[in-house]
Amino acid sequence: MAANNGLFLLPLILSTIAALTLSASSSAATAAATRRSQEPRESVRAGYYLAADAHLRPLAALDASLYTHLYYYAVAVHPSRRAPLLPADPAAASLLANFSRTVKSRNAAVRTVLSVGGGGSAASAATAGSSDPAFAAMAADPSSRAAFIGAAVAVARENGFDGLDVAWRFPASAVEMAEFGFLVAEWRAAVPPEFLLTATVYFSNHVFDAPSPGVDYPSDSVARCLDWVNVMAFGLRAGAAGNSTAYDAPLYDRATHYSASYGVVSWLDAGVPAGKVVMGIPMYGRSWFLRNKGNSGVGAPAVAAGPKQRGTNATGAMSYAEVQWLAATAAASRSRGAITAYDNASVASYVAVGDVWVAFDGVAVVAEKLAFAARCGLRGYFLWPVNYDDANLTVSRRASQVWTENKISPEFRNVTGGARQMQAPVLLPPAVQSPAPTALPMSSSASRLSCRTLDVRLQLGALLLFVWYQIYENCKVVQDW
Ligand SMILES: *[C@@H]1O[C@H](CO)[C@@H](O)[C@H](O)[C@H]1NC(C)=O
Ligand SMILES: *[C@@H]1O[C@H](CO)[C@@H](O)[C@H](O)[C@H]1NC(C)=O
Ligand SMILES: *[C@@H]1O[C@H](CO)[C@@H](O)[C@H](O)[C@H]1NC(C)=O
Ligand SMILES: *[C@@H]1O[C@H](CO)[C@@H](O)[C@H](O)[C@H]1NC(C)=O
Ligand SMILES: *[C@@H]1O[C@H](CO)[C@@H](O)[C@H](O)[C@H]1NC(C)=O
Ligand SMILES: *[C@@H]1O[C@H](CO)[C@@H](O)[C@H](O)[C@H]1NC(C)=O
Repeated sequence: MAANNGLFLLPLILSTIAALTLSASSSAATAAATRRSQEPRESVRAGYYLAADAHLRPLAALDASLYTHLYYYAVAVHPSRRAPLLPADPAAASLLANFSRTVKSRNAAVRTVLSVGGGGSAASAATAGSSDPAFAAMAADPSSRAAFIGAAVAVARENGFDGLDVAWRFPASAVEMAEFGFLVAEWRAAVPPEFLLTATVYFSNHVFDAPSPGVDYPSDSVARCLDWVNVMAFGLRAGAAGNSTAYDAPLYDRATHYSASYGVVSWLDAGVPAGKVVMGIPMYGRSWFLRNKGNSGVGAPAVAAGPKQRGTNATGAMSYAEVQWLAATAAASRSRGAITAYDNASVASYVAVGDVWVAFDGVAVVAEKLAFAARCGLRGYFLWPVNYDDANLTVSRRASQVWTENKISPEFRNVTGGARQMQAPVLLPPAVQSPAPTALPMSSSASRLSCRTLDVRLQLGALLLFVWYQIYENCKVVQDW
């Protein structure tokens, strides 16, 4: 009997200690942690199929077994009718009608989601500017929201989709953010629980470069009403001048908040559970013409946006497949020479061929980013867009493999729980202080090695930060008294 009582008391004592420790942290963080632990952990390996660039890869040539979710991107909001604007072109209309059936014939388990909103090219989509006017007008009053929700759900069902994605790029004022919150709440109320509802959102919970201050996503509505958010952790060179080369989606940036890690952590700090955050990986590269071939580093002077490629047909951007082709032809010709560099401080890569310079996410970068996402306990990742992959679907394949290998372990999550109290620059582990890019071959073995080393150092660094934070918080409490 006594032994039984003792055993009974043990968890009580432990939970009291735990509660005392937790009370040192902010109550918001505690609530977030509780919500996070209650989340179902079915992971997400998603891909966006950009309908506008369907010519780059027919849907039938996509290996649907590499994804858990495939997004059709996108149908716009009709400017006057408060309904989705369906494609008029017969080929586009049949792509939409056949999308779910085609990918499910390859992988019956894949779930399909219809993105509503969108517009712009793959490379410009993540940049904050003015809000999508048709979307903003639709969201502005309750009756037009209700009409739109009904129409969008009907379109999704008619075409065999398992869910809808709110791709409003991007609410640009505090009022529009509130309307975004109403929209997702009303949308959730209008569909059954098994119907997926996600949103494609800005890289950070706070929108920078917006015309007015205080433009923050309504985290409560996001956490309560959406299955998850797809965080566009790319297109980050918005703050940089166009006259010099820059990384478009570095994982870390010591000088500014324009990094994927800052964005992801801002969503977690805003109280959105990690289980509802999915991190974006760009499959486009951002390109420039260099002023001087001899000066090809990051921040080197550039004279113009990079050359238009035949497939992607846009200046200043190219697909992963085109980046690989550019590097491979330069290497084969020998006369031009290609520099391929992997920067282990920023976790970013670029290729320079003659006077063309392209920042892109190679497989080494993708592996590091997914390890970061796993350490943060995120729900998964999405590739933007999957039709930019090469003929072998190299990135989709590698990402799926790395994510499965990195499967989140509980220790990772505890450590991250402490680290995410910090601002992004502090998140940088002591190990990644070398600012100089290092020319490394893009071999997968090299990336695996540095990934493991970084993992260990990150954990140690984060643990130290966590301990420091606890001491700091305790001191603060004492001072407050
Ligand atoms: C599906 O695609 C086929 C051609 O592959 C086309 O003939 C058919 O009309 C499409 N279905 C719809 C509903 O558009
Ligand atoms: C780019 O332009 C900005 C001003 O627009 C200037 O301050 C900066 O020095 C320029 N950078 C280069 C590399 O020319
Ligand atoms: C490429 O884009 C231009 C507009 O920038 C357009 O006129 C042209 O038709 C496009 N070419 C292809 C092959 O899509
Ligand atoms: C695709 O894979 C095959 C064999 O694995 C290889 O020979 C070929 O070079 C690869 N192509 C690309 C574009 O990576
Ligand atoms: C992390 O937390 C879980 C419970 O949330 C616990 O079971 C596990 O032992 C912890 N791991 C470490 C390394 O503290
Ligand atoms: C980055 O590369 C440099 C030079 O090779 C090396 O000294 C440093 O340890 C590397 N950092 C990480 C985090 O791998």
